[in-house]
Amino acid sequence: MRGRTALVTGASGGIGRAIAVELGGYGADVVLVGRDENALTEAAAEVQARGGTARTIALDLTDAAAPAKLAEQVGEVELLVNNAGVAPGGPFVESDPAELQAMVALNISALTELTGLLLPDMVARGRGSVINLASVAAYVPAPGMAAYTASKAYVLTLSRILWAETRGHGVRVVAVNPGATLTAMNPRGTRTAEQVARRALGALSGSGPEVTEGRVNAVLGHLVDQLPARVAVPLGGWLMARFG
Ligand SMILES: NC(=O)c1ccc[n+]([C@@H]2O[C@H](COP(=O)([O-])OP(=O)(O)OC[C@H]3O[C@@H](n4cnc5c(N)ncnc54)[C@H](OP(=O)(O)O)[C@@H]3O)[C@@H](O)[C@H]2O)c1
Repeated sequence: MRGRTALVTGASGGIGRAIAVELGGYGADVVLVGRDENALTEAAAEVQARGGTARTIALDLTDAAAPAKLAEQVGEVELLVNNAGVAPGGPFVESDPAELQAMVALNISALTELTGLLLPDMVARGRGSVINLASVAAYVPAPGMAAYTASKAYVLTLSRILWAETRGHGVRVVAVNPGATLTAMNPRGTRTAEQVARRALGALSGSGPEVTEGRVNAVLGHLVDQLPARVAVPLGGWLMARFG
């Protein structure tokens, strides 16, 4: 990655910031994206302290024009990390429709459009990678997190198919599934953002379409995924309520 451009969305905090900092250690030219300019500047300083170069771009990825603007501003990208996400919770019928719309715009639309803008150039160059942050929740449909877990199932399915469509072209697409990770999004998380960052970047040297961070998370996700929906969904709700 030395001198090559890595674009990390949601790099102002949590897992995205940890990934950006880790990339700094590889000497990458890291483009940090988020809304909070001060937090981006602080994260960029950490990237530089680790030996990378850093640029910050403050924008709201729920704006329909944002992904295209971002792709144009950044130019050639070696690694795209689609990390920015939000996780509104609570019973679906009590959700704020505007909040749901913003979640879909960020977790699904921005991720899809940004990938659609940058992946073709990677395929044409025969080089490049995309890491999509999905979640163990993609395997564990959970009442109380309906739209969020569905959005992560989308990210996982999209990543699996893009993995298949681009392998053999020198390009790597991989979904990374964190379990409960201690960040602003999840104060009950037991894994650290740094553990997820290392797993995410380590996945670039693997060959499969997805990796799950943490052995227990991987086993749980796999087991729930095998169950019939009438068992998996209530169990998913229980697991999410208990372990986040
Ligand atoms: N933490 C967990 O337990 C967990 C588990 C599984 C999967 N994940 C996934 O991992 C990813 C990172 O989660 P996290 O825990 O690190 O969350 P986080 O600490 O809340 O960080 C989210 C990041 O997304 C950015 N963001 C939010 N809304 C944005 C918007 N409208 N436009 C641009 N950037 C925006 C935030 O920056 P600004 O506020 O500056 O915009 C922040 O940098 C997410 O996709 C999440 O679904 C997390």
